Amino acid sequence: MSTFSRRHFFSAAASIAAVAVTPRTAFAQAPAAAPAAAPAASGPFVVPPLGYAFNAFEPHIDAKTMEIHHDKHHGAYVANLNTIAKNNPQLGTAAVTDVLGNLNALNDDIKFAVRNNLGGHANHTMFWQIMGPGGGKPEGDVLAAIDRDLGGMEKFQNDFNAAGLRQFGSGWVFVTVAKDGKLAIETRPNQDNPIMDGKRALMGNDVWEHAYYLNYQNRRADYLKAWWNTVNWGKVAERYAAARTGTLGV
Ligand SMILES: [Fe+2]
Repeated sequence: MSTFSRRHFFSAAASIAAVAVTPRTAFAQAPAAAPAAAPAASGPFVVPPLGYAFNAFEPHIDAKTMEIHHDKHHGAYVANLNTIAKNNPQLGTAAVTDVLGNLNALNDDIKFAVRNNLGGHANHTMFWQIMGPGGGKPEGDVLAAIDRDLGGMEKFQNDFNAAGLRQFGSGWVFVTVAKDGKLAIETRPNQDNPIMDGKRALMGNDVWEHAYYLNYQNRRADYLKAWWNTVNWGKVAERYAAARTGTLGV
C-alpha cells in the first residue's frame, strides 16, 4: 500500500486526540525524588524520569550504564523526535501507540526516523517502568499466565534469555501479551516494538550493547541472567491487567 498523505495522517491524528491520556502525560506524575529528566531539545516529547536512582540495580546493572542509557541514549531518541515534530506537529499530539501501529500513514520523509526514534522512546519507556528495586516475584494472574503459556518460571526465564542471546546485533526480547491474556516470547531488531504489528509488549529486555557493555562487555548471557534481579513484578502485573482491558500504553 502506498503511503498516506500528510492530510490523511493529520485527520487520523485529530481523531486520536480525543483518546485517553498519552504515556508522556502519565509519566509527568513520576515521584519527585527521581533523577531529573535528561536535557533534550524542547518539544512535546520528554524522557520519563526514573522512579529510582541510577545505582538502584548495582551490582547487576551499574550506575554509569543506567545514567548513560537513560539520559544519553533515551535522551537522543527524544531529542530526535522533538526535531521531527518541529515540522510535523501532529507527531507530538497523537498517541504513541497509534503512530507506531500505523507507520504507513506517515510521509516517507519521516517514516524511517519515526520508526527508530519513537520505537526507541516506547521501548525504553516500558523498560524503565518494568524495572525497580525490590521488585518481588510474579504472582496471581501473571504467574498463572506464565505457567500456562510459557511453561513456568524456570523455562520462561531460560527461553527468554536464549531468545535475547540469539537476537543478532541490536534489538529487544519481549514477552508479548494478547487481549485474551496469552503470553509469548518474541524478539525484534533495532528499536522495533510489537505495537508495529498489532501486538503489545508486557515486558522486555534491551539487548543493545549500550545496555550492558560497560560492565559485561561481550558477555550478553551474563547480563541477561542478572537482569532478572531488576524486574518490578508489581508493575508487570499492572501492565498485564491493563492489557486485558485494552488500556495498556507503550
Ligand atoms: Fe537501550
